[in-house]
Order: sequence, then structure tokens, then C-alpha cells
Amino acid sequence: TRCLLLGARVQEGAGRLGCDMGPSAYRAAGLAEALAGLGLDVVDGGDVVPGPAADLAHPNPALRQLGAFAAWTEALAGAAYAASADAVPVFLGGDHSLSAGTLAGLGRRAAAEERPLFVLWLDAHADFHTLDTTTSGNLHGVPLAYATGRPGFAGLLPPLAAPLDPAHVCLMGTRSLDPAERGPVTASGMTVYDMRSIDEDGIVGPLRAFLERVAAAGGRLHVSLDVDFLDPEIAPGVGTTVPGGATFREAHLVMEMLHDSGLVGSLDLVELNPFLDERGRTALLMVDLAASLMGRRVLDRPTRTY
Ligand code: ARG
Ligand code: MN
Ligand code: MN
Ligand code: MN
Repeated sequence: TRCLLLGARVQEGAGRLGCDMGPSAYRAAGLAEALAGLGLDVVDGGDVVPGPAADLAHPNPALRQLGAFAAWTEALAGAAYAASADAVPVFLGGDHSLSAGTLAGLGRRAAAEERPLFVLWLDAHADFHTLDTTTSGNLHGVPLAYATGRPGFAGLLPPLAAPLDPAHVCLMGTRSLDPAERGPVTASGMTVYDMRSIDEDGIVGPLRAFLERVAAAGGRLHVSLDVDFLDPEIAPGVGTTVPGGATFREAHLVMEMLHDSGLVGSLDLVELNPFLDERGRTALLMVDLAASLMGRRVLDRPTRTY
């Protein structure tokens, strides 16, 4: 299969500027070369370009950049739908608001294939706010709510061809929910492996259980990897660090198990903020994690100084 890299220079959804440089950082860190080195057919499709942002009104005064968010969602939904026809798209973010678009497009693709879409959400956060409940107003906090069809997006964001079933979503690494997200996350039926559960039970059993469900359903699996899934000690290049994240070894193990499953059809790499990074170490780590997901074996890992 072909691996198609698509840059999404989205930064309007985050609380601070800089995520627009993410795609450049992945390219500078050698993502295409790393994947090609595994024997994959890699194409860099350049950057997705959004249409003009409309001036959208909303009663929540905290909301920032709703028009830009809607324009990015529309453009990325189209790109994700088209790319997923015959390639494994890798979306180079860009803040996490971009996943509203990728999930919308992949949901449409899965529906066309008559397969269920499953999502593994590797993140310190749930990003499950609606436009009405967010208090930060940062739209990287809402993509999973939009994609699963929570209310309040109609008429502002593109309508969903097929909403994502919350029962097909697995959150891993969770350790920061806002008060208004807590109840809805629990009520949604999404599977949540927070850091407490990973500390107690490890990461292998829970991930294996989820992958078995995807396989049994004949599902298409999308992985959304937020830099802040990782512990800030190893991944400082992100605006929303939360202590107590996944370790280097846990993160690679997740990626290696995903590769072994053969189920992954698409990937988001989100929230990298090169302005906050240290000599590219977070970008390099994300490249190595993507390589593990795409088939690099432990014994073939290059020696690298982060
Ligand atoms: N829940 C917080 C908010 O809505 C943080 C969201 C962080 N999201 C992210 N994709 N980093 O502001
Ligand atoms: Mn996120
Ligand atoms: Mn996050
Ligand atoms: Mn099901």
C-alpha cells in the first residue's frame, strides 16, 4: 500500500501559535525517508489548503476561530475521503482540531466500504467538548464530540455522512478532563484507558482487547496521536503538556502492536508545536513512533540522540 503524507498547517484550534510549523518539522525530521526506508511506497502530497473562513456567529463568547475551524474541517474531510480510497493517509498537524475533518472524511469512506470506523485516540485529553461547553474556546478541544455527533455543530460544521459510534472509540493515556467533559465522556460509552488504568493494568492487555474488537468487526482503524499523549519529559514540543504521560517504551509498544495488527488505515500526528520544541527532539520522536507503527522493528531502530 501507498503511504500518503498530507500536511495540515492548522493552528487556529490551539491556544497558542506555532502548530502551523508542524508539517515542516516532520519533513525536516525525515518522516518520508524513515517510512521509505521500511520499504513502503511513500508519497508526500504536500499541504491541504482550506477555503476562506466564513464569519460564523455563536452564543458562546469564549469560542475562537470558528470560521477557520469550519473551513479546515471541510477541506480535510474531502482530503481524507479521497486519500483513503487507495492509500494510508498520514496527516501531519497541525493542532488536534484537524481531526474533526479527518474523522468526518474517514467516516464517509468507511460507510462507502460498508465497514465500521474505529478510532484509537492517544491523548492526555478527550477533546469531547461541544461548542457550548468549552470554556477555553480552543477548538482542538472539540473534534471527538463533533465526529461522534454530539449536538450543537449543525449548521456551522459540515454535516457528517456517518457519525462515529462512540462504542468504536478507545481513548488511551487520558489524564486531563474538564468538568464539563467528565459526565459526557462516561455516558458516551467510549472505552477510556486513563493513566491510572495503564499504571495498574499495563497497556498491552487493554490495547489487545480493543484491536481484537476492531478485527472481529472487520473495522477500519484510524489512529489519532496527540503529542501530549507522551510524557512532557520526552516530548516537550506541545502547548498542552500534562505530567504523567506515556513513556518512550509504552509509546513504541503501542505503535508496534498497531503494526502487528495490520488494521491501521490512517493516522493523525497532531499538536506538535516546533516553536516549543528543543532542537527537534519531539519531531524526531514522533517520526520514530510513526516508523514503529509502519513496521520498524526494535532491533532495527537507528541510534539517535534526542
Ligand atoms: N480540555 C482543554 C480545552 O478544551 C484542553 C484541550 C486540549 N486539546 C488538545 N488537543 N491538546 O481547552
Ligand atoms: Mn488532543
Ligand atoms: Mn491533548
Ligand atoms: Mn459495533
